[in-house]
Amino acid sequence: MIPFNERVLRSAGERRSRLVLALDITGPMDDRLSRAQAVLERAMNDVAAVKLNNHLLLPYGLRGVKNLVDECKREGLPVIADLKLNDIESTNLDVLDSLISFGFDGLIANPFVGYEEGLGRVMTRAHRVGLGVLLLTYMSHEGAKDGYALRAEDGSPLYRLFASRARKWKADGVIVSAKSGPRIREIRRVIGKRCLIFSPGVGPQGGSASTALASGADFVIIGRSVTNAPRPEAAIATLRRQWSTQK
Ligand code: XMP
Repeated sequence: MIPFNERVLRSAGERRSRLVLALDITGPMDDRLSRAQAVLERAMNDVAAVKLNNHLLLPYGLRGVKNLVDECKREGLPVIADLKLNDIESTNLDVLDSLISFGFDGLIANPFVGYEEGLGRVMTRAHRVGLGVLLLTYMSHEGAKDGYALRAEDGSPLYRLFASRARKWKADGVIVSAKSGPRIREIRRVIGKRCLIFSPGVGPQGGSASTALASGADFVIIGRSVTNAPRPEAAIATLRRQWSTQK
């Protein structure tokens, strides 16, 4: 069993890409899946991994997206479920089992729920099968400061505590907004080298992929700038030209 981090880094190396494609297809529900497939086919040679969110997971469910997931896997593209898992242990474990049985490679979880009876057994069970767990550490929307920047009793901001949790719990990665280079660097110092940083918030949310990558993010997560483009492969090529540091 090859661990998640190795699989995603291998895929990134093979395609020389640090882009995780968020396949967030909106609009009429009936053809979202076929449109997602069309975007995937045009983008698959230029992205390191694919992230699925509720845009597809709610209308289609895991059975509905199975062919899409299988196609990614045939191409060696890891697939991450963006569920921001946030529940009690028994529910979290059931979600994890579903994701494992449908072939997902990684999942995003919320460290707010804590370890005991929260995410502890999720981490160990996921790692047993090589599924990666990525912890939200600083989200990319403006209101993130209302939660992630709150101070704990000892004065540290919550995001720093979440970053130390990521290290202690042996999380495979953290999700950190692309919108602040200094914060990415600060979080890198806390999590160490092994844990990967995934940065969303590029494009419509105002963040810059090149700043995020130059500040130490391993991957940028990009959705609408690609999914809404008339030619997704051209949009990816433009994005890749914009960041000079292809790590
Ligand atoms: P856009 O269209 O803004 O899409 O490029 C970004 C994708 O990533 C999700 N997103 C986040 N996911 N933590 C996450 O786990 C975040 O801070 C975050 N910010 C954006 C978003 O839902 C979309 O799928």
